[in-house]
Amino acid sequence: MNFISYDFNTASPEIDARVEALLSRMTLAEKVGQLVQANLRWRDDLDDQIRQGRVGSLLSLNGAEQINRFQRLAVEESRLGIPLIIGFDVIHGFRTVFPIPIAEACTWDPNLVSQAARVAAMEACVEGIDWIFAPMVDIARDPRWGRIAEGAGEDVFLGCAMARALVVGFQAADLPGGRRIVACPKHYAAYGAAEAGKDYNTVDISERTLRDTYLPPFKAAFDAGAATVMSAFNEIAGVPASANPFLLKTILRETWGWEGVVLSDFDALGELLHHGFAADHREAALRSFNAGVDMDMMGNAFPYHLANLVREDLVEEAQIDSAVRRVLRLKFALGLFEQPYTDPALAAQVQLTDEHREMALEVAQKSMVLLKNEGNLLPLGTDLRTIALIGPLADDHHNPLGCWHARGRDADVESVLDGLRAVLPEEAVLLHVPGCAIEDTTGGSAGADFDAAVSAALAADVAVLVLGEAEMQSGEAHSRAHLGLPGWQQDLLEAVVATGKPVVVVLMAGRPLVLPWMVEHVPAILMAWHGGIRAGRAIADILLGAVAPSGRLVVSFPRSEGQIPIYYGHKSTGRPADSEGVIQFDRRHRSVYLDEASTPQFPFGYGLSYTTFAYSDLQIEASEVTLDGVVVVSAEVANTGDRAGVETVQCYVRDLVGNVTRPVKELKGFQQLTLAPGERRRVRFEIPVRSLGFHNLELRYVVEPGDFRVWIGPNAAEGLQGEFVVKDS
Ligand code: BGC
Repeated sequence: MNFISYDFNTASPEIDARVEALLSRMTLAEKVGQLVQANLRWRDDLDDQIRQGRVGSLLSLNGAEQINRFQRLAVEESRLGIPLIIGFDVIHGFRTVFPIPIAEACTWDPNLVSQAARVAAMEACVEGIDWIFAPMVDIARDPRWGRIAEGAGEDVFLGCAMARALVVGFQAADLPGGRRIVACPKHYAAYGAAEAGKDYNTVDISERTLRDTYLPPFKAAFDAGAATVMSAFNEIAGVPASANPFLLKTILRETWGWEGVVLSDFDALGELLHHGFAADHREAALRSFNAGVDMDMMGNAFPYHLANLVREDLVEEAQIDSAVRRVLRLKFALGLFEQPYTDPALAAQVQLTDEHREMALEVAQKSMVLLKNEGNLLPLGTDLRTIALIGPLADDHHNPLGCWHARGRDADVESVLDGLRAVLPEEAVLLHVPGCAIEDTTGGSAGADFDAAVSAALAADVAVLVLGEAEMQSGEAHSRAHLGLPGWQQDLLEAVVATGKPVVVVLMAGRPLVLPWMVEHVPAILMAWHGGIRAGRAIADILLGAVAPSGRLVVSFPRSEGQIPIYYGHKSTGRPADSEGVIQFDRRHRSVYLDEASTPQFPFGYGLSYTTFAYSDLQIEASEVTLDGVVVVSAEVANTGDRAGVETVQCYVRDLVGNVTRPVKELKGFQQLTLAPGERRRVRFEIPVRSLGFHNLELRYVVEPGDFRVWIGPNAAEGLQGEFVVKDS
């Protein structure tokens, strides 16, 4: 990493003194004001509310001029002149839009992901944004959930690595104009465990699963320096996360000793009424504040009730003071009192530079996952004469921007058509036919033109179909129950495949799709996700072979919706699918489906390259290790193909017997290496034994002595296997 991250956590007596001096001058109303975050639609008298010190933060503003204007109201026209802290959803880029987070995670390159986050922070801070509502660190194991697009996928270890990387990048210490940005990991907690993959839905998981699976990425984000957190919309076992003392006090403050600011998600306090957890906004303010929320996003509860609740002795003013201290400390640490305004001229110098566009291209190239490549159909090479480029996303300048595109503009996006034109030799012919719309919004097949698509395919050497989802089909509130191709795209695909021409499918989507027919009938499939402004060029580079694909899946692809949730780190059960099973009545009874396989279509960690890799000679340095020791395991990895390639070598562990049952595999390490043809290298993992623990029956984190299995391999379903034993001493 060529930059360092700003440290918001170091104690500063100077800041503490300034906070206390300010706090001692504040009225109760002004204190409550610091705990209110509003947007432009909050109230008609927003300006006056700011002048009166009744608003501490704004979200989702538009540009430096507007932000400066509001800052001026707070700094120059309010009694105490406390600057606002300005929040925004900068999820995968700002003006330079990068691939969606699930795609970024598929690079398996935390360093690159950090650099991209730093670029996003650079571009956002010059508009006066101080607070980035990211990273989303929710573990997601259900592709029906549209917000799977916004996170790092199903795995805890990789999720922690990406959480750290994003926080470090967003909070980079060298942002332009001397500005600073604070990250806000979200949505605390277990938002991704929504029942049936339906957004905002109920979560009912055990405390052990919460601690072992859903909380670690938050802890990783805080350890990396995240100084705020966003509490989630969902309930967990009957208690909404935004009024949940166990999450917000017991875990955050008492167990982790974390002292940052807790911001509730968008009107999550108002939603306590819908949850049936508060009868009115007064009770919502009472329950959420006393549970540990510091700031009310959208300000529908705190501004109207908190001061009265203090007067009624239902909320302690000392607790209000603590919350205000946290907010003020953050504002001082951000440097807002010294530098509340931003220079509007900076944006043009900092945003969408060649360097940023170059990085967006690199991330896009590395995020794409080659799912199938029968007969080495790819790369196409540059000597093809005619390519039929078919599909509703082939020349799309909007949807590659993905579900959170901040200031991204369609005009900045390179479509696949643009990308291919840029890299193909002049004499090559591109026959472009959309074929149908992404979604059928007409109720019929209006606009679909399969004949033109079929004619183009017949006239070409190869048909490249660019298919998938619109950006609005994933992300917040965009859950889907059917995960096939939307609209008429499946029919279009079948019509083109029926021509008998070689077919390549490029998939753009915000989630894993369910595509059994495609996997069976199409020889080459590239998962391109929503790849940001350079998606089209990255796809062209991969299709033609200038770049070899190196992305690896961070989430299992199901064969059918009925398998969901499907993830590699599941439990064994008493009758595992691969066991002999128990003969009961007259048949073997195993944990399987009668009408579907138990394995995913593509496993976690999976992805092809344009070369092949072979794994051999697993070695374990010492087959017995102590609780404070390190397991050292290595294997030879060789490039057995005829071009260079990047392999992501993965190390998984299984604790065979536990005080409570343990997953059948857990990722504990990964390394990327570039190997020339014929080159081989020994890849070595050092796994601290203390990282092999879990929360036991008493919900204590323990590492238990006993037998372990270890694998080194290319994905969660394959690999060389060994054993080691953890001893007490
Ligand atoms: C989302 C958050 C987002 C917030 C502010 C909410 O609806 O859940 O992820 O940060 O809005 O836009």
